[in-house]
Amino acid sequence: MHFNKSFVFGTATSSYQIEGARLEGGRTLSIWDTFCDTPGKVYQQHNGSVACDHYYRFEEDIQQIKKLGVETYRFSVSWPRIFPEKGVLNAEGMDFYKKLTKRLREEGIKPAITLYHWDLPLWAHEEGGWVNRESVDWFMDLAKVCFQELDAEVDSWITHNEPWCAGFLGYHQGFHAPGHTNMDEAVKAVHHMLLSHGKAVQYLKNELQSKTPIGITLNLSPIYAKTDSANDQLAANNADGYSNRWFLDPVFKGQYPVDMMNLFSKYVHSYDFIKAGDMEIISTSCDFFGINYYSRGIVEFSAANDFLHRGAHSDYEKTGMGWDIAPEEFKDLIRRLRQEYTDLPIYITENGAAFDDVLENGRVHDHGRVDYIEKHLQAVSDLNDEGMNIEGYYLWSLMDNFEWSFGYDKRFGIIYVDFDSQERIWKDSAYRYAEIVKNRGTNN
Ligand code: NOJ
Repeated sequence: MHFNKSFVFGTATSSYQIEGARLEGGRTLSIWDTFCDTPGKVYQQHNGSVACDHYYRFEEDIQQIKKLGVETYRFSVSWPRIFPEKGVLNAEGMDFYKKLTKRLREEGIKPAITLYHWDLPLWAHEEGGWVNRESVDWFMDLAKVCFQELDAEVDSWITHNEPWCAGFLGYHQGFHAPGHTNMDEAVKAVHHMLLSHGKAVQYLKNELQSKTPIGITLNLSPIYAKTDSANDQLAANNADGYSNRWFLDPVFKGQYPVDMMNLFSKYVHSYDFIKAGDMEIISTSCDFFGINYYSRGIVEFSAANDFLHRGAHSDYEKTGMGWDIAPEEFKDLIRRLRQEYTDLPIYITENGAAFDDVLENGRVHDHGRVDYIEKHLQAVSDLNDEGMNIEGYYLWSLMDNFEWSFGYDKRFGIIYVDFDSQERIWKDSAYRYAEIVKNRGTNN
């Protein structure tokens, strides 16, 4: 594998997963704090109250990033740290991100900031959260102040991270905060997230005349039918619609997929929450497209499922999450995106894997993760040889952290975190990634 000089290597994290300092520095609660406090929602009722204690240890973490040799670091801002109450800006919260951004710059690391990585303030939730169209204005308050205070030092902006998870896992499947199971709410929530994305892009470009690249990050998963029976093909089409097209089509084509609108209409009472002009805003052109890739999906027909599909058995090798390791399918996904959706530069804003790591004599020999990373970087290199123009890769994650409903049970870091002592220990994957970054690939 080989990467040219302009390709950027990075690592990624998010605020709730690493910061801790739950009620410190003026922060108030987010929907994830209360979700974690609700019995039965998160593995062993873990929470992000301390997490990696990054709020206090960010200097040390910057040194780890520097040691890895990566050029860029992707992190998110915590909305309830910046706006602990509706309309009330907390200077102390903003200062944390100013300090972090400035220190990264001083160390020669390019900051890539995500505005929304799922920690919605509780005050916003109490007013209906993303289901309420006013959430677009609340989000814009956050975006504006971040742009004003940080744009000069930031290398790229990501409006939203994985609206599929925030929208469908949060409001339809209930596995993520706020834990609702209502498809009508879910499509509204997604619509408002996408609308707020488009508005933020327009504001940065038109009002502020900023040249800082801005984009959105979607989690995408190529979907395959278990068999070529008509029923399984239908299942695959629906699963693709639910996981991928419901987000890709509005962002790149300015319309929701009509087949899915029909399918969802069983639960979605009316689409009149889509107002005139919304779709133009949602499809405002961006500077790059962020993709989080972890795995493929394989599905079969199921009459019992709301949308007629369910996961099918696969004999692929799996990560610690039980997700298929599928680097070839990653290539299928990118080729399809190039054919059907966009010519924008692509950034892989997340890729990585959880495995059951064992710390022994101060080392973690995480062969599975090393192999996963090598295979996916090889795929990126191959794709660029085909002219797919992937401009960067962010490994998820810099360090073990709070893995949402799996708590600390699933470790995605290339740096091991001892959550009792907060010690950071390089896994073999960190050494290997540093080597690949240094050599801009390997010799083959
Ligand atoms: C995607 C999410 O953005 C991130 O927060 C999460 O930890 C990883 N996937 C791994 O599941």
